[in-house]
Amino acid sequence: MNIDKLERTAEAMVAKGRGILAADESNATIKKRFDTVNVINTEENRREYRDLLFNTPNMESYISAVIFFDETIHQSTEKGIKFTELLVSKNVIPGIKVDKGTKPLINFDNETITEGLDGLDERMVEYGKIGARFAKWRAVINIDDVLPSKFAVEANAHALARYAAICQKNNIVPIVEPEVLMDGAHTIERCEEVTNVVLEETFKALQSHKIHLPGIVLKPNMIIPGKLCKTQATPEEVATATVRCLLRNVPTSVPGIAFLSGGQSPEEATANLDAMNKIGDHPWVLTFSYGRALQATAISSWQGKDENRTAGQDAFLLRAKCNSAASLGDYDFSMESA
Ligand code: 13P
Repeated sequence: MNIDKLERTAEAMVAKGRGILAADESNATIKKRFDTVNVINTEENRREYRDLLFNTPNMESYISAVIFFDETIHQSTEKGIKFTELLVSKNVIPGIKVDKGTKPLINFDNETITEGLDGLDERMVEYGKIGARFAKWRAVINIDDVLPSKFAVEANAHALARYAAICQKNNIVPIVEPEVLMDGAHTIERCEEVTNVVLEETFKALQSHKIHLPGIVLKPNMIIPGKLCKTQATPEEVATATVRCLLRNVPTSVPGIAFLSGGQSPEEATANLDAMNKIGDHPWVLTFSYGRALQATAISSWQGKDENRTAGQDAFLLRAKCNSAASLGDYDFSMESA
């Protein structure tokens, strides 16, 4: 394990004023996004769309790293340049989603376990050869009045830690993503209670597996009410609860925390991150690793039409720029119309 390399990569992924683009939608997930604008989900359309994102002029000012899906990491631009090479030439770090998605956790109703550990060491070697410097694994925690079970939290934390160990052995930085879902009617208090348990268990497992914490990036949910909760929260409330939960559970040796957006609107995800950074300095960098919140407006502006390519890039760049400002606590709503 090359500790130095891991630490340098992790620090670069959360470099001041930059964040991570999660462009690692599986083919089934990108289909859902394409369906909203009637784009057919073909390999070439997926390539064209990712080509639009990665070729956005100046995105590298705001984006430190991109998470690929397996198909995309092997694809190239129109001119035949590998996407990985294009990003490296822009000083953007390529990474890869390595989990194989969730499966029902047998004997535990409505709970899931993330699969993909079998053969992961061998896959990691191959991904390293084609340029991946970090990886991602997402654990999904369902939440309501009784869920999650202790067992589901422990099983997912264990899998995250085993994945992280395999990454670090291969000098690949693990993004550790335990996501407590926004689906449901739970309160912000319930989200904090569950996220406390999930993060505590995750770091317990990481430490048991001797993970080098300065060589990881944590990707958690924010502390936020469920989508169906009648009482929604202000950015200040989300920020206070999220920072409190992180201070309680995340060791200061972790260099950075890059949030998922999880179904928040693009503006909400930006305002919430900004409010956290407006509180002041924290022991870790707080930035973004958004999928939907960076891409939703790009997809709706593009609509699969060549003539809308620039409009799609402009929409993506605006979100990247606003979130970069939010990662510094410098966002203002007037930036949305600039
Ligand atoms: P969202 O920001 O759309 O939640 O996606 C982030 C991600 O990588 C989910 O694994």
